[in-house]
Amino acid sequence: MSALLSRIHEQYSKWSPRSAELGKEARAVFPGGDTRMSAHYGPYPLFMESASGARLIDVDGHELVDFMNNFTALIHGHAHPDVVKAVSEQMLRGSAHAAPTMSQIELARLIQQRVPSIEQLRFTASGSEATLMTLRCARAFTGRDVVMKMEGGYHGSYELAEASLVPIPGQAGPPEAPAILPIDASNSASLFDDVVICPYNDPEAARNLIAKHADRLAAVIVEPVLGSLGMVPATREFLQTLREATAAHDVLLVFDEVITFRLGLGGAQSEHGIVPDLTALGKIIGGGLPIGAFGGREELLRVFHPDERQPVMHSSTFSGNAVSMAAGLAAMERVDASVIDHIGRLGDRLRAGFDRVFERVGVRGCATGAGSLTNLHFKRGNISNSRDTLAGIIAAGPVSAALHLTMLERGVFSASRHMYCASSAMQESDVDLAIDALEDALEHLLPDLREEAPQLLA
Ligand SMILES: Cc1ncc(COP(=O)(O)O)c(C=O)c1O
Repeated sequence: MSALLSRIHEQYSKWSPRSAELGKEARAVFPGGDTRMSAHYGPYPLFMESASGARLIDVDGHELVDFMNNFTALIHGHAHPDVVKAVSEQMLRGSAHAAPTMSQIELARLIQQRVPSIEQLRFTASGSEATLMTLRCARAFTGRDVVMKMEGGYHGSYELAEASLVPIPGQAGPPEAPAILPIDASNSASLFDDVVICPYNDPEAARNLIAKHADRLAAVIVEPVLGSLGMVPATREFLQTLREATAAHDVLLVFDEVITFRLGLGGAQSEHGIVPDLTALGKIIGGGLPIGAFGGREELLRVFHPDERQPVMHSSTFSGNAVSMAAGLAAMERVDASVIDHIGRLGDRLRAGFDRVFERVGVRGCATGAGSLTNLHFKRGNISNSRDTLAGIIAAGPVSAALHLTMLERGVFSASRHMYCASSAMQESDVDLAIDALEDALEHLLPDLREEAPQLLA
C-alpha cells in the first residue's frame, strides 16, 4: 500500500472507531466484510445509524451530507414523510400478496403518462431484472439473439450487463471495435457469442457495428448517461445515430434509464426528444425500496401476454410488491418539474464549484455529468467515454481512495468512485459544503501529491 493511503487509513480508523469494530465483525460473516461490492471501500465502509433528508448519521455520531442517495435511487433523500406514511400504512395492510393491487396500476399509470414511449410496462424487483427483461423481450420479438452494449455500460448484476464494463488498457482492443471483456472469471464462454461491444459516443463506429451485425442483432442497449464509468453524458448525435441505425435494420433500441429517469419528467429520452423501443427503469421509481420496471410499445410487450401461445416467462417473487408500489407512488407523485429543476441546478452548481476548486488548487481534475448527476475525474480535457474515465482513475492511483476517505471526514458522503447526486432534500448550502470540503481535502493531500502523484499537479 502506498505511504499516502496507509497514513489516510490510519487517520480514518482513528476517526471512525465504531465502524472499524463493526468492519471486523462484518468480515466474520461476509467475504472481506462486504455484502454489496459497489458500496464497499477500504479499509471498511462507514456503518450507518440513521438517515433523514439529506443527512446521514454514522455509528460514531458523525453527520454527513448524502451525495450518494443509494446510488441515485433516493430523489427526495431519506425518510421523506410522505414515503414513510405510505409505507407504514401499506405494511399494516400486508407487504406482498402474490396478487395484484390498485397501487400497481396507479404507479404504472404515472410512468405511462410521463413517458410516451412506454405504452405498456411491467414491474420487476430490481433494475437488473428490468434490463434483462428488455433483452429477453427483444430476442423473443425479433427472433435474433445478439445484444450490442456500450463499452463502460452497466446494466446490472449479470454477465452480459457487465461485459466490457472496464476497458482495461492492453486488453480492450481497438477503440472503434472494442473487445468483449468478461467482468470476472465467473462468466461462461457463451458471452462471446451473445454480445457486441460498441464504443460510447462514437456515432460512426456505432453505425458500422450495427450494420455489420444486423442480421443477428436483437437489441442495442444504452445508458443516456454512462453511469458507473464516470457520469459521461451521451451526445444527442450519438443517441440519434443509434436510433436511426437500429430502425434501419429492425433492431430494437433499449434505453437503460435506471439512473437517468431523474433527468426529466419523462427521463433523458424526453429531454433528448428520442424515442426508444424499450425502456428499463429502477431506482427513483421505488421511493427508496427495491424496484425495477420495463416497458415500451404495446406490440413489443405483447410477448409477455398470458394469452400468447408461448409467452416470455417473467416472474419474480417481489415484482410489484405492495410496499415498493406505495413508496414509489408517494415519491414519484412529488417529482414535478420544479423538483427536476431544483436538483438539476444543484448539480450545475456542484460541477462548476468542483471545476473551480481543481483550477484554484492546481490539481488536474474536473467534474462531468448532467442535471443532478455528477462525477469527479482526475483528468482534464475531453471525457467522452469509459476509456477517458479509466485514464483518470489510473492516473490518480491511491489518491482517488485517499480523497474519498478525506471527504468523508469532512462530512461529505459520495460513492468511492466520486459519483455525487443531488436530492430534493438538499439546498445550495449543502452543495457549497461539498465544494469547500473538496478544496480543503485537496489542500490537505497536496504535499502527498507532490511526493506520490506529481502527474496530477496542473
Ligand atoms: C444504469 C443501470 N442499469 C441497471 C442497474 C441495475 O439496477 P439494480 O441495482 O436495481 O439491479 C443499475 C444499478 O446501478 C444501473 O446503474
